[in-house]
Amino acid sequence: MDKDAHIRKFDKQAKKYEKLQKKDPTARFRKRIIPDADGKTLEVAIGTGLNLPYYRNVTELTGIDFSSEMLNAASKITHSYPFEINLEQADVETIHFEKNSFDTIVSSLSFCSYENPVQILNRFQRWSKPDGKVLMLEHGKSTNRMLRGIQRGIDPLAYKMIGCHQQRDIIGFVDESQLEVLKVERALAGLIYFIWARPQK
Ligand SMILES: C[S@@+](CC[C@H](N)C(=O)[O-])C[C@H]1O[C@@H](n2cnc3c(N)ncnc32)[C@H](O)[C@@H]1O
Repeated sequence: MDKDAHIRKFDKQAKKYEKLQKKDPTARFRKRIIPDADGKTLEVAIGTGLNLPYYRNVTELTGIDFSSEMLNAASKITHSYPFEINLEQADVETIHFEKNSFDTIVSSLSFCSYENPVQILNRFQRWSKPDGKVLMLEHGKSTNRMLRGIQRGIDPLAYKMIGCHQQRDIIGFVDESQLEVLKVERALAGLIYFIWARPQK
């Protein structure tokens, strides 16, 4: 999909994601992994800031997203948190950060939409400090055969309508990248992936 069309798709969904700031059905998944972030943190594709309530030990957060509408919604709630938050409209596939910039890099529910997911993970490897961590909360290919069939069936339409692939092999991406997986957990028939990783030495 052409990049501008992709951005417009997410701009259009910003109101829906803004409503989730009040009641988020994915809160229990976020609570499982987001509190593990610490120090100087980068959150890619931050959307409307639904992870913000779960950061405990973050000292400074940079949040990027290519959708200005998502960021507008996020900017309305940043004042409620006791750490510095800088939001920037940027494409995670092209933005530049110095090597070894962050203690933690967080991604949630964003690897469904990237064109080159493995390249992005390799960017995380570069941006992470050598003892840093990468935390991922993603959705992708289920462990249940019937659900996988449904995911395969709806994938083309879902990508066209909401810019989001349904059956991505998230662990396969990480295994192919320069990150090292430390721990994986799954939920909801394997649809939800929690991945704790670090840059390879
Ligand atoms: C499904 S939403 C998830 C938002 C948020 N991470 C969350 O957990 O609620 C996907 C987000 O990824 C952003 N996004 C997708 N591709 C991107 C890219 N290449 N660069 C920056 N942001 C991107 C979209 O604008 C959208 O905010």
